Amino acid sequence: MDPVRLAVIGCGNQCTVSLMPGLPFIPEFDLVAVCDLKEDLARRNARLFGARGWYTDAARMLADEAPEAVMVVGPPQMHEELGSAAFQAGCHVFTEKPSSPTIAGARRLAAAGLAAGKLGQIGHMMRHAESVRAAWELSHREEFGRILSVESKYTTWPTASIPPGHGWGEPDEDWTYMLVQGGHPTDLMRHFLGPIVRVMARRAHGAGNYKVYQVTVEGAGGEVGFLNLQDCYGGWSTRLEVTGDRGGSLTIDDLDTVRYRRDDPSLKPPGGGMCWTAGEWTPHFTTKMGVRAGYQNQLQAFARSIRAGTPAFPSLADGWRNLVVAEAIVESCRTGRAVEVAQETV
Ligand SMILES: NC(=O)c1ccc[n+]([C@@H]2O[C@H](COP(=O)([O-])OP(=O)(O)OC[C@H]3O[C@@H](n4cnc5c(N)ncnc54)[C@H](O)[C@@H]3O)[C@@H](O)[C@H]2O)c1
Repeated sequence: MDPVRLAVIGCGNQCTVSLMPGLPFIPEFDLVAVCDLKEDLARRNARLFGARGWYTDAARMLADEAPEAVMVVGPPQMHEELGSAAFQAGCHVFTEKPSSPTIAGARRLAAAGLAAGKLGQIGHMMRHAESVRAAWELSHREEFGRILSVESKYTTWPTASIPPGHGWGEPDEDWTYMLVQGGHPTDLMRHFLGPIVRVMARRAHGAGNYKVYQVTVEGAGGEVGFLNLQDCYGGWSTRLEVTGDRGGSLTIDDLDTVRYRRDDPSLKPPGGGMCWTAGEWTPHFTTKMGVRAGYQNQLQAFARSIRAGTPAFPSLADGWRNLVVAEAIVESCRTGRAVEVAQETV
């Protein structure tokens, strides 16, 4: 298979620490060039990760290099503008999340990809974490039954609103939280539960930007979920719990350990009674953090989807749908009422 000719726009922190370190391990990519407004960052990332060229002007890089795919990693306004320019230049596009500071913008970008006939993927990498892939496989076995409930707990350090002029839209603490953090647990919830049709949310706000959102979620098939968003911690932690309708449940802690428990009739003693099996899955100890968290796997999946002609996963449409749910959560917090989530498509 010919490697996909990839160009990168935005050589800041996330790109340099979490995304580009995976590229040398993805043979499906050929890194042709990188770009950042800051020349020193563009030069640095070209040197660190072996790009043949570096630029400070994205339009020039697209014209000169004619890449097949572009990774855009910067403020959300840049994702929308340069993602759209890359689609117009005939490229497949991966953007970090969120794909735009606004719901309308995220939808426009997803639609631009469809109109161009190109793949658009978004960086909700947790779907590609090794543990989440393992849990997905376990929870889709016949013995697990239908998924009835999902609890997604996500704990992060407090998020403040971002002043205007930085590409994050209007400053609003709740919306900024949803753009910066809330999309990740929402995406995991949608991954396991399916479409979300209604939310009922409460927010407790403390000193500074310390806050917690607790959200009851309803799925399209009557499934239930609970999003527990704790923006009040000095670090990062996550937990997902998925329950099936045949006596099984599984948890994923910190994208690392999967515990699977189920009622196993084959183990019942002659006298009867409940009998549980429990299994634990962890990544191999040599698996590096970028793979555990899904950063490298998501980019490899992007390259493979381009060559196989399969859909991007998660897609820019998923990124847009996550923001639609986020808006419903914010509205529910403000009104104190349950909010229906519109079920439109791009
Ligand atoms: N998925 C995750 O876990 C995760 C984690 C952290 C950050 N992120 C996302 O990554 C994105 C980037 O965050 P960051 O902390 O790296 O930001 P950053 O400010 O460190 O990097 C952004 C870079 O983009 C460059 N840039 C801006 N406009 C440009 C343009 N027109 N052309 C070329 N370069 C341009 C800037 O010079 C800067 O170097 C954010 O959208 C954030 O939401 C995702």
